Amino acid sequence: MLGPVLLAAARSDSIRRLVSAAPITRPVVDRYIAGESLDQCLESVRTLADRGIEVTIDFLGEDITQRSEALRNRDAYLALTEALAAEGLGERAEMSVKLSAFGQALPGGHELALANVVPVVEAAAEAGTTVTLDMEDHTTVDSTLAILSELRRSHPETGAVVQSYLFRTEDDCYALAGEGSRVRLVKGAYNEPVEVAHQDKREVDLAFVRCLKILMAGKGYPMIGSHDPRMVAITEELARRHGRKPGEYEFQMLYGIREAEQDRLVAEGHRMRAYIPYGTDWYGYFMRRLAERPANLAFFLRSLVSR
Ligand code: FDA
Repeated sequence: MLGPVLLAAARSDSIRRLVSAAPITRPVVDRYIAGESLDQCLESVRTLADRGIEVTIDFLGEDITQRSEALRNRDAYLALTEALAAEGLGERAEMSVKLSAFGQALPGGHELALANVVPVVEAAAEAGTTVTLDMEDHTTVDSTLAILSELRRSHPETGAVVQSYLFRTEDDCYALAGEGSRVRLVKGAYNEPVEVAHQDKREVDLAFVRCLKILMAGKGYPMIGSHDPRMVAITEELARRHGRKPGEYEFQMLYGIREAEQDRLVAEGHRMRAYIPYGTDWYGYFMRRLAERPANLAFFLRSLVSR
């Protein structure tokens, strides 16, 4: 019940101002965000590297309203790419990009987002790393997949995300399961209408398994973005069935969530990647994390009253 309310709040400017300004929010936010600066982000990358965990880095800046913000976000990713190259982290660290941060929702947004992401993908390739396009709400999926296929013509290593809660996603999985295709499968984190998405968690989970089967049987590189122990176990079983060794698929989890499980998977020889968000514009990302788990909201509210 609370999930949809929190997801609606994630897109409200007035609630954003209220929550972002409250100093008491900070300790809870810190659980999910690897700091506001590039230096803090790189520190987290090194700490995770010491634990054998690779990363995909998200510079927070979704849902912008000005073209100038799209350029600022593009430049932040270019600076990030330079830093990864300078630190020799290109092999351990890739980048996750939300196209809304590159202007996708502005007038002429499809072309604008494409124009802004191309230099980042090119710089990433020069730095020995790659970009994965995050998936946002269902209205953006066609545009994001069209931009993916444009980018993959010159940079086939560019990755995409598919969300099992969308009815269309099994078809998208078939289309994306080919040789060289890097695909992150997730359940989906936005507030979607009944016309396009499963609303029942069990249906979302069943759809996740169907998509997982398609990707694991295919020729691409599946990236399993889930903290759900059942999805992890089913992935391991499917890997055995299809003769996929660790490194021919990988697990991905969000920074700060189920860290012991991340360590366990590394210890068992799996390839594990953490999704690291950093920057000052953490509100939307933070609210989606609260919506995923009521206990997080309770923790957040307790920290408000215990001060
Ligand atoms: P589920 O929600 O069933 O949770 C399983 C268990 O994981 C819970 O019981 C709990 O123990 C733990 N858990 C899950 N969420 C938690 C949280 N917030 N805090 C604490 N514990 C939690 N979505 C999207 O729409 N577009 C995208 O591009 C991405 N990208 C992405 C990258 C990566 C690496 C991951 C792991 C996830 C995403 N997501 C995403 C988010 C995804 O859609 C989904 O909302 C979350 O992963 C939660 O779903 P689970 O599969 O973890 O299962």
